[in-house]
Amino acid sequence: MRLWGGRFGEGPDARMADFTRSIEVDAELALDDLAGSIAHVRGLARAGLLAPDEAEALERGLASLREDVVAGAIAWDPSLEDVHMNLETLLTERVGPVGGKLHTGRSRNDQVATDLRLWTRRAVGRLDEGILGLERALVDLADREGDAVLAGTTHIQPAQPVLLAHHLLAYVEMLERDRGRLADARRRLNVSPLGAGALAGAGYPLDRGATAAELGFDGVSANSLDAVSDRDFVVEVLAAVALAMVHLSRLAEEVTWWSNPRFGFVRVADAFSTGSSMMPNKKNPDPAELVRGRTAGVIGALAGMLTLIKGLPLAYQRDLQEDKPPLFAAVRTLDASLSVMSGLVATLAVNRDRMRSAAEEGFTTATALADALVRRGVPFRVAHNIVGGLVGGAEAEGIGTLAGLPDEAYRAALDGSDDPLARRLAHERGVVAALRAAATVEGSLASADVVGGTAPQRVAEALAAAKARLGLE
Ligand code: ARG
Repeated sequence: MRLWGGRFGEGPDARMADFTRSIEVDAELALDDLAGSIAHVRGLARAGLLAPDEAEALERGLASLREDVVAGAIAWDPSLEDVHMNLETLLTERVGPVGGKLHTGRSRNDQVATDLRLWTRRAVGRLDEGILGLERALVDLADREGDAVLAGTTHIQPAQPVLLAHHLLAYVEMLERDRGRLADARRRLNVSPLGAGALAGAGYPLDRGATAAELGFDGVSANSLDAVSDRDFVVEVLAAVALAMVHLSRLAEEVTWWSNPRFGFVRVADAFSTGSSMMPNKKNPDPAELVRGRTAGVIGALAGMLTLIKGLPLAYQRDLQEDKPPLFAAVRTLDASLSVMSGLVATLAVNRDRMRSAAEEGFTTATALADALVRRGVPFRVAHNIVGGLVGGAEAEGIGTLAGLPDEAYRAALDGSDDPLARRLAHERGVVAALRAAATVEGSLASADVVGGTAPQRVAEALAAAKARLGLE
């Protein structure tokens, strides 16, 4: 029997029933639904709406259902629409007519809003763990390859050398912000809609606060209409999830390039690579590519969710049933992506020599050399021009690095300047040697000695802080 069938003259058309049911998706909420029902039963008992033996029978029935859900022993009945109707029906089968009292003072509208908040809260906890796992893998790698040097790029062109550890720690920063956004969303979502009823508020003196506390909520939603129609928390979590996926996607993109033999900076472990059905030589970083690819769907989930609610009047509309597929799918995707990227990063082999030689290509120490001139009093624009001339000259001579230029080249560049101080430096003892030292990769790294810079000491401090935060020491 349909639980809402009283006023209907005929049964549902099969097409309508197929079209509207959600059990295939919302069975996922079963444990949260049961937790909500148990708290509701206790609330009804406290309000005197259930006799103690009735409450006990209902709770026992709900607990037995919980065991069966955990064991995967429930056969969901598609004709019963959704998880709420399925569980209420099963409960009544188990405990008899008293099951009919469960839904007192409750609507599926406040019920599903409660379930979804509980589910999302658990999901956020799981994702937080996953993010921490990837952070640990990145920090481990940074620690292991502490002095590996990477060609930092802008515009995909060689820019300045940075420590690989510094680069990896940038991702740790992004992931920490992701954790912060999820924690922030969790704070706002953790209020109980139960007691809002269908939309106006339950018609019984329910102690909403007590039920909320029982479910681990920090409080109750202040407005019953908002309680049943608000899905801001889904949007917020999807936004945080989408941005986290974007971060993973950027990392994935870098790994695919780095593992290309032309770069040869890293080797992705065989266990995280796939081959080609046709080309025996191939070894592809497919998990990274799929992280990048699946990010599209998660961004779509966020866009879809915003679109879903933008035209909805208050209060509950059936459209809201469509909040679950994008949320569930996006959370699953991030969860799995974090897990596979953690494994991929943890097993990455770094080729320091390849990285190091690429870090020297493209005159990446030019800025550090210009800075060294500035430290001797030369205006930055003049220094920029002098070093630019050195780069042009080296390129013309087929000399690959600034540090590789002969003394005469440095002297000539200084001497040819309009700036009197630069000209004087051309003839001062020790200046050229000091400039050449500044133009090495080590000199360049050491000069970025500000908070957040890539100077080895700064990176060591950042790494130590990250390790302490992650409990890695
Ligand atoms: N399956 C529905 C959903 O997920 C449950 C709430 C239905 N409420 C209703 N009055 N039809 O949104």
